[in-house]
Amino acid sequence: MMWNFQNIQELAKKEAKAITTEQELESFRIKYLGRKGLVSDIYASLSTASDEEKPVIGKHANILKSMLSQLMEEKKRIFLEKEEKFLRKDIDITIPGVVNSIGHQHILTQMIDTICRLFEGLGFVVREGPEIETETNNFEGLNIPEDHPARDGFDTFYLDQPDPENKEWNLLLRSHTSPGQIRIMKEHKPPLAVIIPGRVYRPDAVDASHSSMFHQIEGLLVDEDVKFSDLKGLLTVFCQRLFGENIKMRFRPHYFPFTEPSAEVDISCYTCKGKGCSVCGQNGWLEIMGCGMVHPQVFKAVGYPNGKYTGLAFGLGVERMVMRKYGIADIRLFYENDKRFLEQF
Ligand code: DAH
Repeated sequence: MMWNFQNIQELAKKEAKAITTEQELESFRIKYLGRKGLVSDIYASLSTASDEEKPVIGKHANILKSMLSQLMEEKKRIFLEKEEKFLRKDIDITIPGVVNSIGHQHILTQMIDTICRLFEGLGFVVREGPEIETETNNFEGLNIPEDHPARDGFDTFYLDQPDPENKEWNLLLRSHTSPGQIRIMKEHKPPLAVIIPGRVYRPDAVDASHSSMFHQIEGLLVDEDVKFSDLKGLLTVFCQRLFGENIKMRFRPHYFPFTEPSAEVDISCYTCKGKGCSVCGQNGWLEIMGCGMVHPQVFKAVGYPNGKYTGLAFGLGVERMVMRKYGIADIRLFYENDKRFLEQF
């Protein structure tokens, strides 16, 4: 077989000219000079060539091979030159670099982490529940049936038209983290101590103190002999660790359907030390969470044997906690992603 060496040379020159990267240069080498490349095909064809053809093919193959090597050397030299030029002249190492700002955890995440770590230190485990809940877990299991007046206070985003016959399948965006209690107790037997942080949703009109999404942290401890004094002791230790040893605590009787007795917890205002200031609305106390002893109806709903266990529960709003701690007046600031706000924490 005779080869059209002129064509091959022209094509190779054209291709070499178009090469701009090391990678393309390597492909070029493989195509022409590689083990299965064109030059080796040409040499291989010598074995079947006639006696007249052999010297012609051999000669031209050698010429082609050295031309290709030259083309490649030339390209390599150009690449190297460019690189050197770049290194020598085009970099001014005195120009300040571009610094990427690294960012940090959102203040709400920081507060959630701090609180979870505090409770972990007291022997609790952290668990999360889903944001989409069933009507049963969000309400019925927590002793808040449909006609219960307390249910008005938990305005709710339903994902579908609720079916009164089928509460297990009525899905909603949880309006508090308390359904996490039901999930944990359905799965585990006491003794148990869990902390459940997460987002909750309520169709509230958004203003300085309301948001349709906010964060809560739920706590639950169940065992055979848990007393109200345990609840008081636990929350007092928690608040002192979070707000300082010197704060005072106040438990005010309150009503929650899922606890009995129930209380709201106040701490003495750490700004004015209880004297009265604008942070505490002049009364010296800051309300920070709800709590109580788990209602027997709740134990019944999760299938615990009657009278065997007692438990304590509490729930707090993370945004409110942070707002109290830093004197933040508008809840919307947390979600607007204004770095001037976020970078302060
Ligand atoms: N789930 C209540 C709410 O969203 C907060 C709460 C109060 C949780 C008392 C509790 C508790 O576990 O014992 O307002």
